[in-house]
Amino acid sequence: MGELRFDGRVAVVTGAGGGLGAAYALLLAARGARVVVNDIGGSLAGEGSDAGPAEAVARRIREAGGEAVADTHSVATAEGGRALVRAALDAYGRLDILINNAGILRDAEFARMTPEHLAAVLDVHLKGAFHVTQPAWIAMRDQRYGRVVMTTSAAGILGTAGKSNYAAAKTGLIGLTRVLAIEGADHHIKVNALAPIAATRMLAGSMPAADRADDPRLAVMKTLVARLDPALVAPAVAFLAHEDCPATGEIFTAGAGQVARFFVGRTPGYYDPALSIEDVRDHFAEIRDEKGHTVPAGPGDEITELFRTITSTR
Ligand code: NAI
Repeated sequence: MGELRFDGRVAVVTGAGGGLGAAYALLLAARGARVVVNDIGGSLAGEGSDAGPAEAVARRIREAGGEAVADTHSVATAEGGRALVRAALDAYGRLDILINNAGILRDAEFARMTPEHLAAVLDVHLKGAFHVTQPAWIAMRDQRYGRVVMTTSAAGILGTAGKSNYAAAKTGLIGLTRVLAIEGADHHIKVNALAPIAATRMLAGSMPAADRADDPRLAVMKTLVARLDPALVAPAVAFLAHEDCPATGEIFTAGAGQVARFFVGRTPGYYDPALSIEDVRDHFAEIRDEKGHTVPAGPGDEITELFRTITSTR
């Protein structure tokens, strides 16, 4: 049970010019991976570009004795995704690990959410994961090995006001994770999703502004936020990216050093072969009751539960 290393492995981390992505890139490189540090270097809203952040992180890795190259393609287009993967293959000849981490925010109350805000957020988070993972997948499938980590969010899994575009994108990634876990199984590719919690510019952009600067709640909040070091999320992501990771198709959450798992549960529910709308009303508490819930690993498990119910009762 020695130290977990990534010697010989090549990793692409998108959005790694700062925040969480930089922490992931630094840890993977410190443990021996050759890393492509991708970042367009734009604003939190996804505007503009700057080669500086990706280059700075790649330089930091090299100065610490690691191997890294910077890449500034946007994940938001299919061409950008292909060019990023090509850059990794050109630089290092293979691709073992992909961390889809790049992200932007365009928050708005739902009634005011514009098609532009929706498109920009879907393009980076959800379509971005398609754009980069698909060419990476082909390389991983050909070498019969790969690890992919998608970045989801509690704001999507659990919901947060003002983030309908972001939440839709982030939970869309869960569906993608589950399908790719199934499709990757025969090729030794594992795909998991992680919802991070870390003090980055994105978290700062999402925090509700305190009503008054002297609000005591603000001081408490500041102390807690100070403990949300992105470096404490990186070990969870790195393990999901490691050969020894036993899980695939699962959803994890990590922040401040705590790592946990989210799962989709199914209640035993209520069954009546002559179900009426009133039955649903009268048994709604039973339908919602979490006691005895199961965690189906796939649609097959769910249909098995249903068939078991309809063949064993009444
Ligand atoms: P961040 O804003 O520091 O990092 C995001 C990075 O993605 C930026 O450096 C940005 O330049 C880059 N990026 C944006 N669009 C890009 C594009 N088209 N191509 C390439 N790079 C692009 O924010 P943070 O917090 O580090 O976010 C990382 C990921 O974690 C995001 O996917 C975010 O949605 C997710 N997340 C973060 C949480 C947190 O508590 N910080 C909570 C839940 C999810």
